[in-house]
Amino acid sequence: MDLFTPVKLGALELRNRIVMAPMTRSRCDVDGMPTAVMVDYYRQRASAGMIVSEGIAPCADGLGYCRTPGIYNAAQIDAWRAITDAVHAEGGCMVAQIMHVGRVANALNKPAGSETLAPSAIRARGEIYTDQQGMQPFDEPRALALAEIAAVVEDYRQATVNAFAAGFDGVELHCTSGYLPAQFLCTGSNQRTDRYGGSTENRARFVLEVLEAMAGVDGSGRVGMRICPDNPFNDVADADPQETFDYLLQAVQSLDLAYLHAMRYPRGRVDNIALGQRYMGDRLIGNESYGFEEAQKAVAAGELMAVSFGRNFIANPDLVERWQGGLALAAFDLATMYTPGAQGYSSYPRANT
Ligand SMILES: Cc1cc2nc3c(=O)[nH]c(=O)nc-3n(C[C@H](O)[C@H](O)[C@H](O)COP(=O)(O)O)c2cc1C
Repeated sequence: MDLFTPVKLGALELRNRIVMAPMTRSRCDVDGMPTAVMVDYYRQRASAGMIVSEGIAPCADGLGYCRTPGIYNAAQIDAWRAITDAVHAEGGCMVAQIMHVGRVANALNKPAGSETLAPSAIRARGEIYTDQQGMQPFDEPRALALAEIAAVVEDYRQATVNAFAAGFDGVELHCTSGYLPAQFLCTGSNQRTDRYGGSTENRARFVLEVLEAMAGVDGSGRVGMRICPDNPFNDVADADPQETFDYLLQAVQSLDLAYLHAMRYPRGRVDNIALGQRYMGDRLIGNESYGFEEAQKAVAAGELMAVSFGRNFIANPDLVERWQGGLALAAFDLATMYTPGAQGYSSYPRANT
């Protein structure tokens, strides 16, 4: 068994265990519309065992970065359909990463009429890029009223319905990097005094309700979850991430999800891979700074079912074939990571062209 061995994760069938990690690349039009260059980009990478899309907002309030996608209206669903059709035509498998940024936003990056919402009215420290005015502070969020939380859960459910309508094979809940689910989980960003804040059980409630809603659409076998406990990205901090995630994953176990996508964070207080192995070892995808050799070893030893790669896919659309053939990898250009258009995006050639 190695990275080239097919694997089934829930209802998802991967032809190899080299997964493309979700990567925001800011190639959309305004108002969250996917573009034609994105069709090329994802098609070129379809030999991955599974592609996890860049983070996609379930609702307009969920957008926070410039030129990032949504999946909450008919035009967006149609545009995503062109992408999933292209990936499927190449025999690939693709899941949509559902990402609600919560307070990690600036109004300049958001559609008119949308709001920056969070569990509590606590602004994240730091800045975010805007096309109009360069780096800007994060918005001061408005705390969600108790009665509004069900509507946000419903946004995730509807986004899941929309993702299947757009032809995705599954959906992944983005539950890390300081976005809305992480804002609920962490004590620093969640100071609610109702049943969504305070105790571990209360702070985990939002994530569990969202996962149940997503799994209710077409079964849990097409729903995955991405975690990175104790990752302070975007200014989140939890008093006891081990306890929070032990509780959360214990509860998630009974949902029988397709997979758990765990990112390592060696400077954190939790061994995130060991945590994933303890609760969902038979469906664990590992990530963060894996190279080919280390990933091969982890899969061969049965420690991981698959490994996802982010940066290696940027300049190597044929990453799977390169590793299969023992070919060298190309380096990517940092300057075009988030710039509009094909350059530094769908412009990277295959090794054999
Ligand atoms: C340009 C870029 C954009 C990213 N966007 C996302 C994202 O939208 N969602 C997410 O969960 N992770 C995102 N990540 C993190 C990657 O999925 C991955 O965890 C990270 O690159 C580490 O994996 P690697 O060492 O194989 O690159 C992004 C990373 C990069 C480099």
